Amino acid sequence: MDVASGDATLLLLAVVSLLITAAVWSNRRRKDVNAAPSPPSRPLLGHLHLLGKPLHRSLAALAAAHGSGSSPTPLLFLRLGSRRALLVSGHAAAEEWQGATPSSPASWTTNGGGSGATPAKIDPEFYTDTVIKGIVMILLSAGTDTSALTTEWAMAFLLTHPEAMSKVRAELDTNIGTKRLVEESDITNLPYLQCVVKETLRLCLVGLVIPAHEAMEDCTVGGYQVRRGTMILMNAWLIHRDPKLWEAPEEFRPERFLDTAGVVTAVTAPMLPFGLGQRRCPGEGLAMRLVSLTLAALVQCFEWDVGEGGVVDMDEGVGLTMPMATPLSAVCRPRKFVESMLSAST
Ligand code: HEM
Repeated sequence: MDVASGDATLLLLAVVSLLITAAVWSNRRRKDVNAAPSPPSRPLLGHLHLLGKPLHRSLAALAAAHGSGSSPTPLLFLRLGSRRALLVSGHAAAEEWQGATPSSPASWTTNGGGSGATPAKIDPEFYTDTVIKGIVMILLSAGTDTSALTTEWAMAFLLTHPEAMSKVRAELDTNIGTKRLVEESDITNLPYLQCVVKETLRLCLVGLVIPAHEAMEDCTVGGYQVRRGTMILMNAWLIHRDPKLWEAPEEFRPERFLDTAGVVTAVTAPMLPFGLGQRRCPGEGLAMRLVSLTLAALVQCFEWDVGEGGVVDMDEGVGLTMPMATPLSAVCRPRKFVESMLSAST
């Protein structure tokens, strides 16, 4: 075979492969009867070229571009390369997946398989040293950065909202006083502090886009068909800013979680800072106690000041867990009672 005919064969092969790929692609698309709305896609890439950084904002822009008026579309079908994905940007749709409504598919798994609706019984032999080490590593990596970042954002909010800082301080002084340090059991008597933590988790949640979910069976959500194996991407960041659910959603207003009697309301429904469904964060209880107690101790024991420059940079940095663009730096001084407590104990 001479060079020219070799090139022609290669070209022919390339054209045939392209035609086959295009045919498979359009056949797949035809099968998507009554699928959620979807932007125009590109062969092979699908919608990958539409994703940008930060991911939560680029997904929010996509949902907004396909919504009506100022409301983003709650459900958008995306193809990420060969992977089918459903972008969920509305709380009602997220709840439907969670299993809160009778039409929910009710089954979740991680990408690539995992437990179904009924948790499998695990043989104790399964827990070898390596598995136990792995679990400890997961707990450490999933629990430390998330809790530390939430505490950092909460302190940043308090430093930039002196009235909120004063209210937390007043609540601590009224309920605990200055004769002892705040304890975990005190948290239930500190409703405003709890609201500060909730409001921080609403605005600066560390799980911005919850990705590790997949439909285990064909089902219908929001009236649209969702095929088995579709990855579910929940844009929790956008859901937490829905103006239909939250008044002035961009503002830090811890009071929004208090009812008229000053009691913390149970309006956690429109929020999913800890994910949802079977894969919901197992560390939620620990995290809430840890963040609340750390914050309470910091405010009870120290006077705080933003320090030189007097400005806290509230911009979000790059990363899946939403760090602060500039790590928080502030000046603290122990309050008088702490100094006397420390000198009495030495
Ligand atoms: C403020 C602190 C925390 C936040 C905001 C947070 C948030 C989340 C989120 C959004 C998920 C994904 C849930 C989903 O896929 O639906 C998750 C998973 C997880 N979290 Fe947390 N978390 C926090 C603290 C902790 C702590 C303290 C621990 C344990 C010590 C922990 C352990 C885990 C584990 C093991 C998973 C994986 C669960 C699974 O895939 O089945 N987290 N967390």
